[in-house]
Amino acid sequence: MIRKLPPELVREIAAGEVVSGPADVVRELLENALDAGATRLYIELWGGGLDKIVLSDNGSGIPKEELALALEHHTTSKLTDLHNIRTLGFRGEGLWAIRQAAQVRLTSRPPQQLGGATLTAFQDQVELHEHPAPAGTRVEVSALFNHLPARRNALEAPAAEARKVVHLVSRYLLHRPEIALRLVVDGEEKIAHAGGGFGEAAKLLWGSVVANRLLSLKETDGPFRLSGLLSRPELSRPRRDRLLLALNNRPVEWPEPLLQAVLAAYKELLPHGQFPLGVLNLDVPAEHLLINTSPDKSRVKLIRPEPILGFVTQAVQALLSAHPLARALPEPTPLTGPTPVQRASFPRLRYLGSFRGLYLLAEAGDELYVVDQHAAHERILYEELSRRYLEEAPLELPHPELVSLSLGEELNFAERAQALEQGGLCLEPFGPGKYRIRTIPAFLAGHPSLIPEVVKGSLGTPSFSEAWRNVLARLACLPAIKAGHSLTGASAQALLDALAECALPWVCPHGRPTVLVMSELELARRFGRRGLRAVERFGVEKT
Ligand SMILES: Nc1ncnc2c1ncn2[C@@H]1O[C@H](COP(=O)(O)OP(=O)(O)OP(=O)(O)O)[C@@H](O)[C@H]1O
Ligand SMILES: [Mg+2]
Repeated sequence: MIRKLPPELVREIAAGEVVSGPADVVRELLENALDAGATRLYIELWGGGLDKIVLSDNGSGIPKEELALALEHHTTSKLTDLHNIRTLGFRGEGLWAIRQAAQVRLTSRPPQQLGGATLTAFQDQVELHEHPAPAGTRVEVSALFNHLPARRNALEAPAAEARKVVHLVSRYLLHRPEIALRLVVDGEEKIAHAGGGFGEAAKLLWGSVVANRLLSLKETDGPFRLSGLLSRPELSRPRRDRLLLALNNRPVEWPEPLLQAVLAAYKELLPHGQFPLGVLNLDVPAEHLLINTSPDKSRVKLIRPEPILGFVTQAVQALLSAHPLARALPEPTPLTGPTPVQRASFPRLRYLGSFRGLYLLAEAGDELYVVDQHAAHERILYEELSRRYLEEAPLELPHPELVSLSLGEELNFAERAQALEQGGLCLEPFGPGKYRIRTIPAFLAGHPSLIPEVVKGSLGTPSFSEAWRNVLARLACLPAIKAGHSLTGASAQALLDALAECALPWVCPHGRPTVLVMSELELARRFGRRGLRAVERFGVEKT
């Protein structure tokens, strides 16, 4: 039932300007339809939405006697508890704001009501008449800002406004792919989606080249649920504009810690500054969310975020480790067809030979692998160092060494002292800009010359975890460290085995691939053989 909100609640919902352009109108109407449980939406846009916007849905409808109330200020059927918001709308001012900006025709019929009604409203004038109508709601918004020339002049050209609407609708569709939706702009169909899963929506809106490289995710842990799509690491972008998040069904901007939780799972699989693509729906109990009451509600804050962040990192890690992530040999296309599930982890590789002293050739099943010996070695050493600094007791320096720190490094030290100590690095202030190194990680024992570099490295770049990762990655590729772990005496096979033991065998610590793969079928195809049977016909034995 729609009711007027009590004044004390109204004061708490300090909303700003709800409608500043056609995309805002569409967002308000779209959210109302979704809140009404619609499964089928039709959206029409004329003249960039300035002339007319129509949205009809098959949702629960508005009873005749409540139609007029729906367009009033602070009237809503949704909000009872500001701390437990489960709907997209809650302020009771979407329709009211649209009515201030344009002419509104609201036609509705709840399925169980006999006959529908239309309310025509523009500012204070309201007219209601009853007539037969299909179940659901249809809202027609026309002549946007016609009576407010200054607001109208602030809008962009119709084509640009239309683009914003297409973008907005696409976003909602990616998060709610089960909804059937059509969007028609100036008579031209822009989106026609029959309803389906995340994959279908991604294919429609991002194309199949992208959609085929997205991994499907569905993870639950107690009250937390995460579902959607995330790209294989080879598909990344320098911007985060195609990594979308909905929190409890609401498309929102990423709360920074949550984005970092996703990136943390990719580790070095993603080169620095790159973002995966994807769409994620995260559901958490409402008490974990603080929804900003800014006009578009797109900013939310997590309350007590730690368990949520842990859950997200773990879910994404599980997703990535359940798929083979080797890049294809001839060109960076995914392995043919959908990813086979049985090859969930890095395969055991059998050594075949080497090329140029740089690459190892190996096989696993019906695939040929080319391994970058140097990159693989770096990965193995990197993981060994990462393990050792956690497991081994730090080494007390017999003669404490001094380092000079820049102002920036000193500031970082103040923040990171504890994290550094956990890494085995214990420093003490020793006069202005000077610090005494008391302990070092045990793996640095034989390499005193590297100590200052490690100290300074771990105090550089924005976050400790990133700085520390860079330090370990750098150490893993130093010949000095490598000498102690050289291949001499160990076979190439041992290196391949050690690589298979790694947590993240697919890339070196700097994010370069360690292995490339080509299937026998692909080889046969490239040699112009007619499939694998041709191999048998020529009498070549398969091992
Ligand atoms: N498409 C629809 N189907 C069914 N009921 C609707 C629809 N659109 C609006 N309503 C009803 O009208 C009321 C007012 O809508 P309005 O958008 O103004 O406010 P709201 O959605 O409750 O909150 P908000 O201002 O945050 O959007 C809603 O609470 C709902 O009961
Ligand atoms: Mg609303």
